[in-house]
Amino acid sequence: MRLIVNGKPFLMLGAELHNSSSSSLEYMRPEWPRLASIPLNTVLTPVYWELLEPTEGHFDFTLVDGLIQQARQYNLHLVFLWFGSWKNGLSSYAPLWVKQDTRRFPRVIASGNKETEILSAFGAATLQADSRAFAALMRHIREIDSRDHTVLMMQVENEVGVLGDSRDRSPAANQAFNSPIPAQLAQYLRQHRDSLFPQFRKIWDAAGDKTSGTWSEVFGSGPDADEMFMAWNYGRYVNQVAAAGKAEYPLPMYVNTWLRGPNVPPGEFPSGGPQPEVIDLWRAAGSAIDIYSPDIYRTNFEDWCNWYHQAGNPLFIPETSGGERGQANVFYALGEHSALGFSPFGIDSWNDRDNLLGKSYSVLMQIAPLLLEHAGAGDMTGFVLDKQHPSTSATLNGYRLEISLDRIFGGQADHGFGLIIAIGPNEFIGAGSGFRVKFAPQSPGPPNAGIAYIEEGTYSSGVWIPGRRLNGDESDQGQYWRFSAQRTGIERAVVYRYE
Ligand code: DGJ
Repeated sequence: MRLIVNGKPFLMLGAELHNSSSSSLEYMRPEWPRLASIPLNTVLTPVYWELLEPTEGHFDFTLVDGLIQQARQYNLHLVFLWFGSWKNGLSSYAPLWVKQDTRRFPRVIASGNKETEILSAFGAATLQADSRAFAALMRHIREIDSRDHTVLMMQVENEVGVLGDSRDRSPAANQAFNSPIPAQLAQYLRQHRDSLFPQFRKIWDAAGDKTSGTWSEVFGSGPDADEMFMAWNYGRYVNQVAAAGKAEYPLPMYVNTWLRGPNVPPGEFPSGGPQPEVIDLWRAAGSAIDIYSPDIYRTNFEDWCNWYHQAGNPLFIPETSGGERGQANVFYALGEHSALGFSPFGIDSWNDRDNLLGKSYSVLMQIAPLLLEHAGAGDMTGFVLDKQHPSTSATLNGYRLEISLDRIFGGQADHGFGLIIAIGPNEFIGAGSGFRVKFAPQSPGPPNAGIAYIEEGTYSSGVWIPGRRLNGDESDQGQYWRFSAQRTGIERAVVYRYE
């Protein structure tokens, strides 16, 4: 899957604003030039139900219009985040007329008959009201933006799931939980048996691989069944909201996820959000969501990329850490997983004097056409190295590449990151910082590989403009393709083989 904008593949190099920033066009005005100069090509920013529909049935598009106009002035694209029924599990962005009417818009009841402020996914009127507001938003975006395509994609809700308990225990929820699993889900399980997420498959297998019975009978009696049950119900609800929006204007739509920590039970993270073990339930419940996305703040970034980039789900990272981690991780996500986009959170409060993200993005923007051309082709690798993981390897176009932290004159870089693309039979483009590469042949022919030459350079509109020829110390006398830790750059290496 790729994002296509105005007929061309698009690599989203973005960042997300803080939650409250886009509630004021005045606040945003001075932010845009700063954001554009990082450089970014896309800004992810919320649209709030409470401000869009302050009175039932009366929509106010002032902020939406203003944000689109402001973004256009700086040639930036937008992804809008629909803060509707749920934001981080809770419902603080619902308009007051929804919050106040707990009869019409029922809440999650937690264990011990405890009232919560979380809207229940079983509220039919809530689903109808949220869908109507989202549809109105999409209709409006179509009317003002279907020619310019400033808005590229929509996030539907934000980090949904029940907090404070593993499931909703309202009367409607209890009744559904004690009923047989829906026929639509049973059919999905039968039809997709061999292409399910492995994490889901493990839980389903352990409970006996059933396609009929109550939720506990099919998924076991513990909190796993509760989480599956909530996933199905959030999946149903959010897919319906998305479908109502797509009926007006079919932009790509994704859902983001608050990731669970190791051994953390559902309810301590939002139960039912699209974790890898329950994405199949979401998919079974509807097809309007195109991408299930992780918000990766955890240090095992690579694991989460692997867990989300499987079973046909492309990787799109709407929230993650910036700074040194973000600067490096973006190379891994794009090089190793052909991610559709990357977007660290809270960009408008960063005091990043060294503009680390900008250094990475300026390089990645130059090679974006190559990244898009090679996406999913198996001739690209991405990596992050540090003292604990000082080396890795990859096989590309008949060569084995041993990639390790850069080392010269006895000193070793303490971290490195980059990506490498095989662009021709003996030709590679690399980008990043603090690593070095040794080549070994992996295909029939002469047994040794050497470096023919290395150039540093830049891409201008897709054309390679060579700079210095790197040899001597800069290639450890021709032994290594080196990327200095002092900068983030692009280099081209041509290799040859000999007896
Ligand atoms: C994840 C949420 O999705 C964001 O809206 C924001 O609350 C961040 N957490 C804060 O770290």
